[in-house]
Amino acid sequence: MSASINGAAQILRPPADGMPYLRHDRAAELSAEPGSVSTAGDDIAAFEAAADAEIQIDARGCAVIPGFVDCHTHLPFAGWREREYELKIAGASYERIAREGGGIRASARSLAATGDEQVLSQARALALEMLAHGTTTVEAKSGYGLSAEQEIRSVRLAAELSARIAQPLSSTALLAHAVPDGYDTDGWMGAVESMLPAVLAAGRVTALDIYVESVAFANRHLERMGELAAGHGLDLRAHVEQFSCQHSVPVALAAGARSVDHLACLAESDLPALASAETAAVLLPGAEFMGAERVAPARALADAGGICVLGSDLNPGTSPVLSMPLVIGLAVRRYGWSVTEALLAGTLNAAWVLRRSQRTGSLEVGKRADVLVLDAPIGHIPYRLGHNPVGLVFVGGRLAHVRPDCAWRVAR
Ligand code: NIG
Ligand code: FE
Repeated sequence: MSASINGAAQILRPPADGMPYLRHDRAAELSAEPGSVSTAGDDIAAFEAAADAEIQIDARGCAVIPGFVDCHTHLPFAGWREREYELKIAGASYERIAREGGGIRASARSLAATGDEQVLSQARALALEMLAHGTTTVEAKSGYGLSAEQEIRSVRLAAELSARIAQPLSSTALLAHAVPDGYDTDGWMGAVESMLPAVLAAGRVTALDIYVESVAFANRHLERMGELAAGHGLDLRAHVEQFSCQHSVPVALAAGARSVDHLACLAESDLPALASAETAAVLLPGAEFMGAERVAPARALADAGGICVLGSDLNPGTSPVLSMPLVIGLAVRRYGWSVTEALLAGTLNAAWVLRRSQRTGSLEVGKRADVLVLDAPIGHIPYRLGHNPVGLVFVGGRLAHVRPDCAWRVAR
């Protein structure tokens, strides 16, 4: 298939080709000039119109940007936890919610009680909704298993999901998420080590993840997860400094983590080392907003030249949010970021976290044609908060989504 996206008001492009990521003190170097883009097969062919392309797109007034890479989601899960949100709004503590049967364990019970087909159909519907909001690459974490059997199943379900959706999917094994009944933290890490070969055999896992928090795992377990990841040639990722500061960032950096995620409670003293490391700071403003968490020091991380990234954290507990345009809107408002900073964080730098930035995350000749045609210039993304600006979505050169009111732009 070939397509020509013609006469756009803005084409978002990186300052140079072939950059694996762009540190945030250079985000202003992205350009958004008028132009056209053409695709051939899976890839971007040129930054000019192609009169002979099979699909012609009228992009007048539109921004053309790379598809979003959502590098932090907890798909697949079973059902939702809206009652818990009501309790949270009414002021209930994490402990009370857990006591009343909520939290990660509640999602683990639902997952165990729900058949494969039903789990996959919920996840597939969410992936489709993500596509309509411009997400062209997704990550999926296990973590609602809380037993070897269910963790292995989660990784297998992620692989099955991958075969059923338009987007490429990266699978992460979040093997230390909550401490299962009958274990203490050290005991569970022993179980993680024993289950790892079977987990890795169940799907195409590329990273291990862990939740470090006073109510979950500790820095010594993060170190151990780092050793397990290194021993199996996997990336290390970690949920850190979400509700309290555990000074996990230096531990994660020493373990060579690919990313540290959340960071709402990042200590000022831990920020400079993170900003200069080759480790991404994955910020999740949807979770911060929904949980009335602290706001991560994202402005300071960007100014200090961190590899900043945005994700949805889509999960039934802290962030039932999947819209990257909404996440970008929250980041601009709450972090004091420019829209370009937020877009960089949701595209190229997010692709780097998943080791996919050679192929996706920015508009460059020869890269995958994961391309969005928005219904307005990029400034509308944060400004019209809650509106979905995504009109057309190309995934690997294929026109995968057309918003009905934008169908007139497409001529075949
Ligand atoms: O990214 N913090 C830990 N894990 C998830 C939430 C899990 C849940 O509440 O279901 C997160 O916020
Ligand atoms: Fe998360």
